[in-house]
Amino acid sequence: MGKIVLDTTKLVKSYSNGEKELNVLNNLTLKVKSGEIITIMGQSGAGKTTLLNILGTLDQPDSGQLTILGNNAMEMSDKKLSELRNQDLGFVFQFHHLLPEFTAFENVLMPAIINNNASAKEELADELFHYVHLSDRKDHLPAELSGGERLRVAVLRALINQPALVLADEPTGNLDINNAKRLLQLFKKINSDFNQTFIITTHNPQVAAIGSRKLKMVNGRLRINK
Ligand SMILES: Nc1ncnc2c1ncn2[C@@H]1O[C@H](COP(=O)(O)OP(=O)(O)OP(=O)(O)O)[C@@H](O)[C@H]1O
Ligand SMILES: [Mg+2]
Repeated sequence: MGKIVLDTTKLVKSYSNGEKELNVLNNLTLKVKSGEIITIMGQSGAGKTTLLNILGTLDQPDSGQLTILGNNAMEMSDKKLSELRNQDLGFVFQFHHLLPEFTAFENVLMPAIINNNASAKEELADELFHYVHLSDRKDHLPAELSGGERLRVAVLRALINQPALVLADEPTGNLDINNAKRLLQLFKKINSDFNQTFIITTHNPQVAAIGSRKLKMVNGRLRINK
């Protein structure tokens, strides 16, 4: 049995817009073991992005517990949280936010540059580019890449620090079917080669199908998705 990467109990999150209170997470509980691919479906507005932002410590719940790699995220300082995000978490968003003035290779190395170990990671970066068949695009700026290539670069950036957990929010949302399939194959291969743990939100049943655990968000909680 894999070790526990992430553990939550009774996460609650509401937004208030004027007089209205919108209860988005309602005592949500989730435990993730290393090597799992968790996929989360759910209607638009169900709270998937809200959940990923909280799990990634980019946002805070109103109440509940969040433990990442044995650390109580609710009690960590901002400095410790940003170290945790940089070293132990990888993020892939639908809009990938590559830095436009840096090459693909530099973008992938950016988390390592921030971590002061870029030179130690260059070999891994080379390997990763090879792995996704982008070795001849390393020196391209983001504007000189196709949408699918940019997304693959963003995935490599999420992997460069070999994080314990990758959080991916609708990663195939703006890809054509072939690029979406290629990205799914990449996730599966990384999972089987490196035992990489993923949490992936999606509207696409084909994406959800790669989950070793398939969940659905309903009424602010997670259920098994049949
Ligand atoms: N900052 C905010 N202030 C107020 N309401 C918000 C805020 N952010 C999100 N919401 C509301 O919270 C609900 C959950 O939003 P969220 O983005 O988590 O949904 P989602 O499941 O990711 O949807 P989608 O599938 O469309 O991406 C939505 O109804 C949204 O309108
Ligand atoms: Mg969303």
